[in-house]
Amino acid sequence: MGELNFHRHRRLRRSAGMRAMVRETILQKEDLIYPIFVVEGENVKNEVPSMPGVYQVSLDNLTEEMNQLEEHGVLSVIVFGVPNHKDDCGSEAYAENGIVQRAIRQIKRDHASLTVIADTCLCQYTDHGHCGVIEDGVILNDPSLELLTKTAVSQAEAGADVIAPSNMMDGFTAAIRQGLDEAGFTDIPIMSYAVKFASAFYGPFRDAAHSSPSFGDRKTYQMDPPNRLEALREAQSDLSEGADFLIVKPALSYLDIVRDVKDKTGVPVVAYNVSGEYAMIKAAAEKGWIDEKEVIMEKLTSMKRAGADLIVTYFALDAARWIDEEK
Ligand code: PBG
Repeated sequence: MGELNFHRHRRLRRSAGMRAMVRETILQKEDLIYPIFVVEGENVKNEVPSMPGVYQVSLDNLTEEMNQLEEHGVLSVIVFGVPNHKDDCGSEAYAENGIVQRAIRQIKRDHASLTVIADTCLCQYTDHGHCGVIEDGVILNDPSLELLTKTAVSQAEAGADVIAPSNMMDGFTAAIRQGLDEAGFTDIPIMSYAVKFASAFYGPFRDAAHSSPSFGDRKTYQMDPPNRLEALREAQSDLSEGADFLIVKPALSYLDIVRDVKDKTGVPVVAYNVSGEYAMIKAAAEKGWIDEKEVIMEKLTSMKRAGADLIVTYFALDAARWIDEEK
């Protein structure tokens, strides 16, 4: 061979120690947020059929899971309520003794070290399953803001540490910030689902939360998946309205958006690794087609590499256990 001139990249991959020294992205337990579904009743622990390993639990069964999170160093949970009673204005979403309000109080009382994030939406609570108020088949923006603000304030009163509005009405961050401030909760941050796409990956969640729309779809409020520049406008609006964290959802098919939002805003960015992404991995692993642990860790790390500071994931507890094992 004549004189070849090339760089030997493999020098830095020769051993596990060398690879660890030059690793650019490290997934930490502190990055993970664990979603929970709380239901009314006693002694309930229903596995969600399309999400093996994820359960709807009643409050008396919550303690065990919360203890495990504390034990493995997961710092925060995001709470979704599945109420028994639904009506046209989603009144259980802002009831003082609603299922989420009770769950928040219980977790803050028994597991003080956990940061409790309240998902603020109406779709689990409305009989039509939409995230806002409906009149003549139309989802109304501004009247929805009042109910969402009431919901956020009631969650803060119950002790939520962070409010996470996920409804995609315009102005929800401005309305909720004002409502929280007027109620004296100036110190409670908003983790806004600023960029939420109308995604087919939410299917299993809607089984878990009983929140499928009874007619139509969410395309008039959630974003159109092909749009990147619009995602940046959404992020900018929420930031200027007072959001403290920005969520991009779903994560896996939207890692380009995660990177854009991080680069353009610089605020803490949260990637939501959604239910359909969970279900795909679980199904392939069950068939023995992929290595579950390796795939999950690679996937979560890719979200961080894309710019996410935090990741909401149903794999949070598994990942925390695996991180502990590595040590
Ligand atoms: C409610 C809401 C949804 C998710 C979280 N909050 C879904 C939806 O728009 O129906 C999806 C979470 C997931 O799929 O894991 N607005």
